[in-house]
Amino acid sequence: MKAILSMIPQLIRASFENDMRTVEACALTIVRRLKKEEPAIAEEIAKAISYHGVGASVTRSIGIDPPPTDRDTFMSLARIDEPVLVEPRIVLNEENEELVHRFIRERTLSEKLLAAGVKPPTSLLLYGPPGVGKTYLTSLLSYKLNLPLITLDLASSISSYLGKTGQNLKKVIEYAQNIPSILFLDEFDAIAKRRDDPSDLGELKRIVNVLLKELENWPSQSIVVAATNHADMLDKAIWRRFDRAMEIGLPDFVGRTTLWSYYLGSYLNTMDDNFLKVLAKVTEGRSAADISQLSERIIRQIIVDDIEPIEAVIYQLKYVSEDNKFNSLFAKTAKELLGKKVTQKTIAKWLGISPSTLSHHLNTNKEE
Ligand SMILES: Nc1ncnc2c1ncn2[C@@H]1O[C@H](COP(=O)(O)OP(=O)(O)OP(=O)(O)O)[C@@H](O)[C@H]1O
Ligand SMILES: [Mg+2]
Repeated sequence: MKAILSMIPQLIRASFENDMRTVEACALTIVRRLKKEEPAIAEEIAKAISYHGVGASVTRSIGIDPPPTDRDTFMSLARIDEPVLVEPRIVLNEENEELVHRFIRERTLSEKLLAAGVKPPTSLLLYGPPGVGKTYLTSLLSYKLNLPLITLDLASSISSYLGKTGQNLKKVIEYAQNIPSILFLDEFDAIAKRRDDPSDLGELKRIVNVLLKELENWPSQSIVVAATNHADMLDKAIWRRFDRAMEIGLPDFVGRTTLWSYYLGSYLNTMDDNFLKVLAKVTEGRSAADISQLSERIIRQIIVDDIEPIEAVIYQLKYVSEDNKFNSLFAKTAKELLGKKVTQKTIAKWLGISPSTLSHHLNTNKEE
């Protein structure tokens, strides 16, 4: 009881400051503490959280019920996001772009398809390394199709609701199927990964079975998107159940050039297009998220330190690379792609090295 009383000042401060997150966090703690001794009060507070808590305004504004909560902890089992305007700047290869385009088109023509007796696609599996846009694409779909996004992170829900995962998953699935929405199952491999854990094989088998059954009959008003970094860990049976599967890989040279131009183009507009190609070349192996994050740091530095864009670009690229290798790779690439447009002296200045070190780099590269 003392613990609850001690939270009151914080709760009051947070309410006056409209700090809804703190109010909700305090309320949840109180619910948990009161659950045994004062179940009725705990339940009343829990109800208040689900109707007024963080995220509830979203459900209210779209006019849907709040997501289901865990029976014991009263925590929300999923997060809901309104179809917000994300800048549709996703860079995909041609094949994937076509796939996404088709998916959206078929969904838009759902009614027509249904009238002809065929279902629009209702499930999509996205796989690929971290930072390639799996989550981003899902919110883009939510925006383009104007469907609220219900996110369930399987990795965290499995660990925190061990023993009840199947039951909770079922609740979320039911919820998502009953309102036009996109259910996003992030870290989808969490299920497959845990299958070799003998201690809860029974429970996981049940979960997988629940999913398989539901995937097969997903109602056409809703969509389920699953994302994973470890496609190889997925059950073959699950794999087959998805209407579409899409591999998003690391961006290729063209992709990286477009990404740099999207994220940094307006800052480099005085420069030759070939400079973007230099950037693309020296960032081989980096993900789209890496490029977006690097660009943010670069822009921040340009503004805060009031320096030339190119200086910031080189500073940040060096920061994430091995110094010596970067210098020689950049020097060689710049010379190759910028040709006569820049002198070796300029390149040396950009890199902050002496012209003789630069020619050393250029020559070593030649011998390799
Ligand atoms: N293909 C892309 N085109 C443009 N920007 C991208 C792309 N992929 C990622 N980004 C940028 O990187 C951010 C992070 O990407 P995102 O979270 O979608 O990656 P992810 O594939 O879901 O990674 P993870 O496997 O770690 O969840 C995005 O919000 C976006 O700003
Ligand atoms: Mg993601």
